[in-house]
Amino acid sequence: MVMIEVTGLTYYYPLSHTPALKEINLQIEAGQFVAVIGANGAGKSTLCLVLSGLIPTLFNGRMLGNVTINSMNTRNHTPGEFAGRVGLVLQNPTNQISEMRYTVFEEVAFGLENLGVSPSEMPERIEHVLRLTGLIDLRDRSPFTLSGGQRQRLALASMLVLDPPVLVLDEPTAMLDPQGSREVFHIIQTLTTKNTTVVITEHNLEWIAQTADRVIALNKGSIVLDGNPEFVLTSPLLETFGIDYLRYTQAARESQIYGLWPSQTPLPVTLEQSVLGFNRVSSIKKGGG
Ligand SMILES: Nc1ncnc2c1ncn2[C@@H]1O[C@H](COP(=O)(O)OP(=O)(O)OP(=O)(O)O)[C@@H](O)[C@H]1O
Ligand SMILES: [Mg+2]
Repeated sequence: MVMIEVTGLTYYYPLSHTPALKEINLQIEAGQFVAVIGANGAGKSTLCLVLSGLIPTLFNGRMLGNVTINSMNTRNHTPGEFAGRVGLVLQNPTNQISEMRYTVFEEVAFGLENLGVSPSEMPERIEHVLRLTGLIDLRDRSPFTLSGGQRQRLALASMLVLDPPVLVLDEPTAMLDPQGSREVFHIIQTLTTKNTTVVITEHNLEWIAQTADRVIALNKGSIVLDGNPEFVLTSPLLETFGIDYLRYTQAARESQIYGLWPSQTPLPVTLEQSVLGFNRVSSIKKGGG
């Protein structure tokens, strides 16, 4: 089942003559886990706004083409109608906190109230996501007193509590320390077992290589690579789009020049693939004398 369908999408921000997204065609299956990568300004955040229906309804500017989410054309529905259907976590979480609630707990409750969830069900659901996101000890704190990373977790908790079938996450770990990033990655991974459709922009390619079903690379507003992580993350074109290779891929690429990577073996994107490839070379060398 196709969950998200984008046809002929071009989008210009107000007063801009260069499109932020250009001729995008894209189908995302229900339950698919899609990572979007690209250099600064490539259009990742704009695509997140499009895939969650905030563009075109909440943003002015000019959009050509169509986007449907679960068969609902985003031109014909307000962002409110997508609440509970699509959860978006913005790159800058400060913009996402409602500023209407006194505590972290109430902030998470806010979206549930809007969806009309029964009050008896709420405390359990809220405490569950606060525990998941490591915020349970901060439940009575004012959202204004939180650090950047804590706000990012709060934005994520506020979306997770709604349990939407589609989650769009724009650099959800950008403000987190390594331990916090690992925790959030773990939470997101558990969503894949629940058949949630996930679109995520993320700089941690190592994690993408292990988790994503599909990787889409953007360059200057266009999709330039689209395929499984092995295909996209080892593409010889990657560096021309301003995207770094994984350290495993880079080590093998450089070793190739000296014949130290087996010629028939695809470049690696994980440590395991890397070890296998380098072992193969050393065993060939030993075998050959
Ligand atoms: N509100 C806006 N008005 C006008 N132009 C904008 C606006 N927001 C973004 N842009 C432009 O649209 C293009 C795509 O920006 P976008 O934020 O989607 O890139 P990104 O890939 O998310 O970058 P980053 O890695 O820095 O987050 C850029 O050229 C940017 O300058
Ligand atoms: Mg961005």
